[in-house]
Amino acid sequence: MARPVVRLGAPVLRVPARDVEAITPETTALIDEMIAAMYAERGIGLAAPQIGVSLRIFVIDLSSGRDASALKVCINPEWVEREGMQLEEEGCLSLPGFSATVARPARAAVRGLDRHGAPQTIEGTGLMARALQHEMDHLDGMVFVDRLRGISRTMILRKIKKLERDGTW
Ligand code: NI
Repeated sequence: MARPVVRLGAPVLRVPARDVEAITPETTALIDEMIAAMYAERGIGLAAPQIGVSLRIFVIDLSSGRDASALKVCINPEWVEREGMQLEEEGCLSLPGFSATVARPARAAVRGLDRHGAPQTIEGTGLMARALQHEMDHLDGMVFVDRLRGISRTMILRKIKKLERDGTW
């Protein structure tokens, strides 16, 4: 069974994650758990805080497991470049059932380590640029609703509060 993805309301989603100091067998095991959790939920990206671990690691697979070469793992990512703007509908495994149109960069690149500790750059446009910004936000304690303005943000947060009260979140 894959580790459960935590939902908005979990404190771990709201704090900046720490750098990985050394890539140990525990780090590798964590990465495998992240990949398993992402695929179990049919997601295209997941950050370590989403399975309750406050470390700067994300995984992205735009093919959602259909193409093994599409899997990206990034440890201690840093921005290299962000430019332009796109508006598309977006959701998050930590906010199941909710989505909104979110402004994201049209093109983005991050630099970090792969699972073996080798330096790498991950870059892309469109959905990849969106996924990079979305996962980097998780590592800074942010979720997509924080990128929304006014009424749409308030409405989503209010609905989640109600689900929490009803015990169905
Ligand atoms: Ni997310």
